Amino acid sequence: MRVLITGGAGFIGSHLADAYLAKGDSVTILDNLTTGSRANIAHIEDRLDIHAGDIRDEALVGSLVKNSDLVLHMAAALGVKNIMENTVESVSINFTGSDVVLKAATTHNKRLIIASTSEIYGKNPAQPLNEESDRVVGAPQKIRWTYSDAKALEEAIAHTLHRTHGLKVTTVRFFNTVGPRQTGQYGMVLPRFVSQALKNEDITIYDDGSQSRVFCHVDDAVRAVMTLAADDSTIGDYFNIGGIGETTMKQLAEKVIERTGSHSKLKYVPFSEAYGAGFEDMQRRVPDISKVKAKIGWAPTHNLDSIIDSVAAHLKK
Ligand SMILES: NC(=O)c1ccc[n+]([C@@H]2O[C@H](COP(=O)([O-])OP(=O)(O)OC[C@H]3O[C@@H](n4cnc5c(N)ncnc54)[C@H](O)[C@@H]3O)[C@@H](O)[C@H]2O)c1
Repeated sequence: MRVLITGGAGFIGSHLADAYLAKGDSVTILDNLTTGSRANIAHIEDRLDIHAGDIRDEALVGSLVKNSDLVLHMAAALGVKNIMENTVESVSINFTGSDVVLKAATTHNKRLIIASTSEIYGKNPAQPLNEESDRVVGAPQKIRWTYSDAKALEEAIAHTLHRTHGLKVTTVRFFNTVGPRQTGQYGMVLPRFVSQALKNEDITIYDDGSQSRVFCHVDDAVRAVMTLAADDSTIGDYFNIGGIGETTMKQLAEKVIERTGSHSKLKYVPFSEAYGAGFEDMQRRVPDISKVKAKIGWAPTHNLDSIIDSVAAHLKK
């Protein structure tokens, strides 16, 4: 099988490339190498067909999609810091770029997986979040929600193209996916905490640290994507992909210190200092993963300890 991975030099995309190559498939990557990097795919570079380009390039996307059997659309601008600092470009990539990929997959009648996000649920306080939960987002001037809005529109267009043109799309909504190769540079909390702990620097917790998340190891997420992609009865459907075990950011920092044997201290930083005035966050974000469990029998295998160990082992290298 010929697999095209947009964003294949990124964190999740590069793990998908590893897994499909291991399965014996051929893998093509389209990536503009902004948040992704050659280093993520250096170990498999000689087995990949790599195109350094942009998902908004219709001609390039069209020809790559045409020559593939399965398209995994992972390319996006993400990371809260990145979205806050590069808002216009991020919306263009996530909305216009995804539109190009969706239309190419429709034109060439290709199987497609799109990477959506738990951010689409916004700050809905009714937890856990299931696939039918409402979107609750802040006003347009609260810039962080532009990522949520663009991803929600991408999903809506995908569902419409499925209904009107038979687009063979399955949507996965990742919740806080973590693991080796993820960078803390764009606002991702776990690699940032572990990196600070390994250097015995202060661990910087935004706000009071009472906000909570659930983390999912990338190996578990990749297994879910591959199983959903191989099952045509998931076409037209959408699934939360998330981990187990809710943790507050304060508990996470303490656990990171314990697992890495660090001498770091906790330091609290106001959101306004980290992201500027008017920043909004959601207090909790907990996935309901019963739908994907029931559909394909998938469940995460990692817990928070093994996730932290895995990230620390990677960063120590
Ligand atoms: N990691 C998570 O916790 C998480 C959570 C929810 C959703 N997602 C989604 O999963 C997907 C993969 O995310 P990730 O965590 O691997 O992030 P990532 O930043 O590592 O990967 C995104 C990749 O897309 C590439 N890219 C960006 N703009 C591009 C463009 N215009 N053209 C071509 N390539 C471009 C980047 O260089 C990068 O390699 C994204 O769609 C993201 O929105 C991730």
